[in-house]
Amino acid sequence: MSDRYAIFGNPIAHSKSPRIHALFAAQTGQMLTYEAILAPLDGFAASVAAFRREGGRGANVTVPFKEQACALSDRLSARAEAAGAVNTLTFEADAVLGDNTDGVGLVNDLAGNLGLDLAGRRILLMGAGGAARGVLLPLLEKAPAELFIVNRTAAKAEELASHFSGPGFRFAASGLQGGGYEALAGRRFDLVINATAASLAGDLPPLPAAVFAAGALAYDMMYGTDTPFLAFARGAGARCADGLCMLVEQAAEAFFLWRGVRPQTAPVIALLRAA
Ligand code: ATR
Repeated sequence: MSDRYAIFGNPIAHSKSPRIHALFAAQTGQMLTYEAILAPLDGFAASVAAFRREGGRGANVTVPFKEQACALSDRLSARAEAAGAVNTLTFEADAVLGDNTDGVGLVNDLAGNLGLDLAGRRILLMGAGGAARGVLLPLLEKAPAELFIVNRTAAKAEELASHFSGPGFRFAASGLQGGGYEALAGRRFDLVINATAASLAGDLPPLPAAVFAAGALAYDMMYGTDTPFLAFARGAGARCADGLCMLVEQAAEAFFLWRGVRPQTAPVIALLRAA
């Protein structure tokens, strides 16, 4: 008997997660199925409940349901609570556990695949929405020298920085700050992460070209297209990476939560890149 897993989103047809989890299952000899489920925009919780009743063991959650997944979880991991969003649900007999593997996926990609040690680095995180919030805690836990959150609406970046510097977090000394793009004049960063929705609209946030320190890495959490941000960063001499490996790494962490087995990501990344 195979255990059932799924990803819920809207839209969902182009999700790579079923392929990634099928590859992980084959590689590790785990008996499971993993399907993509299109949840109605006003029917996410009902859709998840039906899947659970039919014997589903766990699920991933993507846009636009991560906050709703957080709300329907009976218990949250510390990283999901900090993110205010859940991308991985585990169904136990009497409880739904909510976790968020996006941040650890990003950090594992940076450290493992891209060879970047974040300790002591200067990080610029662009965006202050759900995607940015989801990766903040795991980034801060790597003890960067500075983490500046920049956002079109500066107040949102300032709020996010002050929230994560507040009681319960230990990052006041880590140089966590937030502000608008004009605050970047004269500042340089070793890692610049695009967690805005600008790439979706083909837009480039107003970044100064001098924001990239020598040898800097520019990272776009989007994948599948050369975004205006990556083209700009390349022009400014930065090394570039898209979000495909982060997608595979967050999936590996979810697979580990469900199955207790850690799949190898490199062969799966190679297959997806080749496709
Ligand atoms: P997500 O869950 O993908 O993070 P979101 O919560 O709607 O989506 O947040 C989108 C983020 O992208 C926000 O930080 C947004 O900036 P504002 O807070 O000022 O709206 C940012 N964003 C969207 N379009 C942008 C653009 N063209 N230039 C710069 N930032 C943009």
